[in-house]
Amino acid sequence: MVTLRALALADAPALTRIYSGASIRHTTGQPLTLDQAHEKIRTALARAAETPRAQWSWGILHKDDLIGLISLRRRSPAMGTISYILREDSWGNGYATHAAHQVVIAAFTAAGLTRLEAMHHPDNPASGRVLTKVGFTRVGTSDRDTEAGTVPYELYALETDDT
Ligand SMILES: CC(C)(COP(=O)(O)OP(=O)(O)OC[C@H]1O[C@@H](n2cnc3c(N)ncnc32)[C@H](O)[C@@H]1OP(=O)(O)O)[C@@H](O)C(=O)NCCC(=O)NCCS
Repeated sequence: MVTLRALALADAPALTRIYSGASIRHTTGQPLTLDQAHEKIRTALARAAETPRAQWSWGILHKDDLIGLISLRRRSPAMGTISYILREDSWGNGYATHAAHQVVIAAFTAAGLTRLEAMHHPDNPASGRVLTKVGFTRVGTSDRDTEAGTVPYELYALETDDT
């Protein structure tokens, strides 16, 4: 349904279209400029070259269309976090679920992690649904400081034994 691939600098215009509209309502809150998109891709490419590797970022492709971004970050030797964002006009097709499933497999195999965590804004239940569909369990909340004050984000976890 969707495939994942490494980002390239030429993806910057597509990235600005992903980080806009409803997709940023409960995430960054700000649209991404073309310069910021280039910077984001450069950072992802630099982090991909680090040893040991602490971050993996993939573009999410539907056919040849770059519709989203999904990242895995190592937070400790065995624990990582995942996050994702999809362009608004691609929502509701199971694409985020399919991409997250592929990243969970990569995290527990190539990256050698045994625990994953993820969180989402409380007003963004679709993201929690994606996590539940790939096997995560809600484990509580985690307060995050935002421009609107402190927000209790919904926190989810998945361990290798759960899969
Ligand atoms: C969250 C997001 C990635 C979902 O992408 P998507 O491709 O539409 O996700 P999927 O189609 O795989 O699954 C969405 C699920 O949420 C459900 N859903 C959608 N809106 C919902 C709502 N308001 N309340 C509850 N569930 C909802 C869908 O019905 C679907 O579940 P189902 O298959 O059981 O019907 C997308 O909305 C997004 O990019 N949001 C902004 C960025 C973000 O919030 N990222 C998460 C932070 S890590």
